Amino acid sequence: MEASWPEGSAKSKRQTRRAGCWKFLSLVLLQVLISMMVVVYIRNCVKADPSASEPSPLLEQPRKGSCAPARRPPEITILLWTWPFKKSSPLPKCGRVLGFPDCRFTLNRSWYPRADVVIIHHRDVYHSPMLLPKGPRPPSQRWVWLNLESPYNSYNLHFMDNLFNLTMTYRRDSDIFSPYGWLEVLQKPRQVIVPPKSKLVAWVISNWKPNLRRTKYYQVLRQHVHVDVYGHGHMPLPKEQHYATLSQYKFYLAFENSIHEDYITEKLWKNALAAETVPVVLGPPRSNYERYLPPDAFIHVDDFPTPQQLADFLHRLDRDPIQYQRYFQWRSQLKPFAFLSWHIHYCKACWALQSRPTQYQTVRKLSMWFR
Ligand SMILES: *[C@@H]1O[C@H](CO)[C@@H](O)[C@H](O)[C@H]1NC(C)=O
Ligand SMILES: *[C@@H]1O[C@H](CO)[C@@H](O)[C@H](O)[C@H]1NC(C)=O
Repeated sequence: MEASWPEGSAKSKRQTRRAGCWKFLSLVLLQVLISMMVVVYIRNCVKADPSASEPSPLLEQPRKGSCAPARRPPEITILLWTWPFKKSSPLPKCGRVLGFPDCRFTLNRSWYPRADVVIIHHRDVYHSPMLLPKGPRPPSQRWVWLNLESPYNSYNLHFMDNLFNLTMTYRRDSDIFSPYGWLEVLQKPRQVIVPPKSKLVAWVISNWKPNLRRTKYYQVLRQHVHVDVYGHGHMPLPKEQHYATLSQYKFYLAFENSIHEDYITEKLWKNALAAETVPVVLGPPRSNYERYLPPDAFIHVDDFPTPQQLADFLHRLDRDPIQYQRYFQWRSQLKPFAFLSWHIHYCKACWALQSRPTQYQTVRKLSMWFR
């Protein structure tokens, strides 16, 4: 997992690009093997199992079709302490993957004394330690700290010290690594078709804070290139118009709200890549992005000394279709996948928890680690 791939390769010359690309592909293969199986599996499963959205796995009968395990080994029980952000949805059904059976998911807190695992979403409990499970903890029960926000948006982390056994975040060094998106390797290379582009730069922003680096950067950038801004207080962007609207743009400003290693969010995966536009990223350094993406899949603001030079570059690419299309070449072999539902994270947790033996472990200084 930690195999690193040469840093600063974006600056390297064209000849080394190809070699770099292959290295990248093998890294991607390693990094996303499990995710891929999860994705592919869930897709097949949903197709084969028409009852997949039925919300009662505790009473669930063995399922038919390709997803039903031949025999039912004991399942682990996972108590979801809350629905993230209080948005409820049907309980996940994960099926069997790599020989690991599905888990029994519940939100019923009277299962706490019997639960093997409790997944606790930081956002829903940080206001007070009183919001955490109370009562004696069964000796082998594991608590999982789930948080996909950056430290900048995660309050009262010290409440969480010495309580949890596993971490589940967007960071690579989490016990259960839960990125916002990843690349799937296509089975066969395909011909890349760039969707028709009639507009230049888009940005969707709902949380406008003047002090953030991204806001300041935008304020200068907009003096040199026109940016269409969507979101709260700007042009409306209905959910169902998301792809149709954003895919018309050549570039998308995937600007993170705070800068932290691995903190690369749906702004890149969903807004830019899934909408088939070229991301202009502001976030962790280029080398960090290159762990997730080929170097020519994105433009980094740090590649330019000033916002004006970035704007000039975007104008140049706008006039040069051949150069512009280079930012789509990677799509002949890779496909971006953005996380759209929490189920994928829960299912990953289900399989990951079964794949590692219950060893006693406590995350002592969570607040020191997560910064
Ligand atoms: C929660 O589980 C308990 C024990 O199995 C059961 O008695 C109770 O009816 C359940 N509550 C809900 C809301 O399903
Ligand atoms: C989980 O962490 C708690 C709190 O530190 C600890 O008491 C417990 O033994 C740990 N359990 C496991 C299974 O590691």
